[in-house]
Amino acid sequence: MNNHYITTPIYYASGEPHLGHAYTSMVASLYRRYHTVCGDSAYLITGTDEHGQKIETAAATAGVPVQDFVADKSVAFSELWQSLKLPVDAFVRTTDSDHVAYVQAYWNRLLDRGDLYLGRYEGLYCVDCEQYVTSGETCEIHRKPLTPYAEPSYFFRLSHYQDALIEHIEAHTDFITPESRRQEVLSFLKGQPLRDLSVSRTSTRWGVPVPDDPDHVIYVWLDALLTYVTAAPGGERGWEEASTRTHFIGKDILTFHGVYWPALLLAGGLKLPDRIVANGWLTVEGRKIAKSDPATIVDPAALARSVGTDGLPWYLIRGVRLGQDVNFDREHLRTVLNADLANGLGNLVARTIGLTRKRFPDQLDTQTAIDHETYDALIFSIDQVGARLTSFRISQAAEAFVAGISLLNRYLQQREPWKLPDEDCAPVLATVLRGLCDLSVVAAVFVPDIAARIRVALACPETPYWNDIGRKSWGSLSDSSPVFARLS
Ligand code: MSP
Repeated sequence: MNNHYITTPIYYASGEPHLGHAYTSMVASLYRRYHTVCGDSAYLITGTDEHGQKIETAAATAGVPVQDFVADKSVAFSELWQSLKLPVDAFVRTTDSDHVAYVQAYWNRLLDRGDLYLGRYEGLYCVDCEQYVTSGETCEIHRKPLTPYAEPSYFFRLSHYQDALIEHIEAHTDFITPESRRQEVLSFLKGQPLRDLSVSRTSTRWGVPVPDDPDHVIYVWLDALLTYVTAAPGGERGWEEASTRTHFIGKDILTFHGVYWPALLLAGGLKLPDRIVANGWLTVEGRKIAKSDPATIVDPAALARSVGTDGLPWYLIRGVRLGQDVNFDREHLRTVLNADLANGLGNLVARTIGLTRKRFPDQLDTQTAIDHETYDALIFSIDQVGARLTSFRISQAAEAFVAGISLLNRYLQQREPWKLPDEDCAPVLATVLRGLCDLSVVAAVFVPDIAARIRVALACPETPYWNDIGRKSWGSLSDSSPVFARLS
């Protein structure tokens, strides 16, 4: 059995979580569910990034001791994931003592291997990015002035890994998704000689101390990236032994994941991730949702309370081509959810079960012959869902699921089984019921609560498995409450 290791970014504990954070976590969760439904083992980690100057400053501004500040924010993130019912297996904090110990041990390993040296950094810094910037007066992402810094710093010999990185990314065309992002990283790597990376700070005390040099704390990005190893089940062994390692991130942190992280792993002698999947930005009125722009903030918990924990990710997954920026629009959200879930899927379930119970009150024989042409077309759509998920075309996968639903709805519309005598009505309903059993497996990946309701109504086995598609039929039908309540 494969075991898939999946990560979200380790979110900064500097503010409240918003819809932008939730989006990446919902995409990662979809894959956690997909692997499980496929019968594989999967492990999803997430957590909070709690060190560094940005957080120290945020705590000072709030007038709260930094430990209390990060504890509070960390709870806000973990409670959000619970309220969105995300299938998170481990939630880590960079202030956890075993993580801190691992970061220091990794530091020593890099030092022993000759990949760290003490030097001096002079240049400009964006505190919000926690990154040195080579040119300009303001940060392009945060539109804030850059701070001039001059401080002693340890450096990581990033330059040693430039060729190895180019070779790896060229040879592994799946390493970064979408392809445009892979090209972006490749042109960055080929465009200039890489400068060694400054990996310690003396300007803040809030971080993991450099072993044997307590004036320095370890650069917050090195600290945070290593969470991916410390949070794996069994730590480093879990990282090494996973069948696949997939990082879901936003495009804003691509260089950290596509360049620095693999170089740090190569230096430590660890395996590289298999996939880095970069999503675009959710915007509001064209502006990136960000805590620095309060007018853009959308509270994901409140939204999920009104449209459901299935409705919210469905909208974002169906409506956003992975990798592209998209504007969040409540009216559009309502339209999509009503069309796909209330009208499309909901009506299909309700009218099929309603009509079958009415016409065949003693139970429709599960051995009834089915219409193979329609059923095969449905299986084709479902196969497309699987193929598209495997290649991380998730909105297209969602479209193939909708195509399957529409196909059965059209079939009912065309055949009008309610007008047919029993012997002709039975095969039509049997075809749709078989199809619904299969679609409920797919639904378990996208909209798990809805899927569970459908499976109860059809008396399908409680645990959905992709391998059951085409093999299992319905049981004793019961009327279900609407699978998705129409939004007004
Ligand atoms: N702490 C670092 C990540 C360290 S990973 C080892 C960080 N944190 S963050 O809180 O700023 O979160 C960044 C991630 O949140 C982005 O990469 C993205 O996945 C998600 N998003 C934050 N705002 C977003 C949007 N407006 N739209 C889509 N995703 C966004 O960077």
